[in-house]
Amino acid sequence: MTRVMADPDLPSRSAAAGPIRLPPWQEATLLAVLAGLVASGAIWLVYHHLLPARADMGTHPAEAWSLRLHGGLAMAVLVLVGMLLASHVLPAWRRRLNRGSGGLMLGAMAVLTATGYLLYYAGSPSLRDAVSALHWGLGLALPVLLALHMTRGGRWKRNFFRQ
Ligand code: HEM
Ligand code: HEM
Repeated sequence: MTRVMADPDLPSRSAAAGPIRLPPWQEATLLAVLAGLVASGAIWLVYHHLLPARADMGTHPAEAWSLRLHGGLAMAVLVLVGMLLASHVLPAWRRRLNRGSGGLMLGAMAVLTATGYLLYYAGSPSLRDAVSALHWGLGLALPVLLALHMTRGGRWKRNFFRQ
């Protein structure tokens, strides 16, 4: 019986064998979109909760445009995370690399997406208030989780210990 050898020049059909590192354009786009999400959320928080409301103006226009920007970036981040599932998460998970902080990132994204959905559709005001606090509390913590994830990841660790 003749054995067919795998051709090393052909791309592997198994996602588990793929590269884990994000291509530079994908890493830059992801970081820019996440920064935009945090910034637009923070701007809304400042105008809605911190600055005193002016009776003659109603809500400040910045509240509306920051949420419009936020909703658009939320759609973009879901596309980017969807791409990451196949090209980054699956191969890293199979090789047991960075599972702890990666799992935290995935969990945070899932909770942010579910609470973002509820912010559109939750009917009762008290439920909406609780969901809102959970959403933006976790959202503000996201940069810390991402920094933890990136610094615990292979490339940064390897560069650090090489010095
Ligand atoms: C939504 C979830 C996730 C996001 C946004 C994310 C994002 C990132 C980013 C920006 C980096 C640094 C850039 C790079 O090294 O390519 C990175 C590195 C890394 N991530 Fe994730 N990640 C996520 C989930 C996961 C999960 C679930 C795992 C593991 C099962 C994982 C494993 C790794 C590893 C091993 C590295 C280091 C790669 C290297 O430099 O060699 N990630 N991640
Ligand atoms: C996976 C990431 C995220 C998704 C999918 C997401 C999604 C959403 C959606 C759909 C809304 C409702 C928009 C509207 O009512 O017009 C929202 C509101 C909001 N988001 Fe996010 N978001 C994410 C990350 C973040 C981050 C990182 C922050 C950081 C501060 C944040 C802060 C906020 C705030 C303050 C609001 C307004 C809350 C309210 O209306 O009571 N979000 N988000």
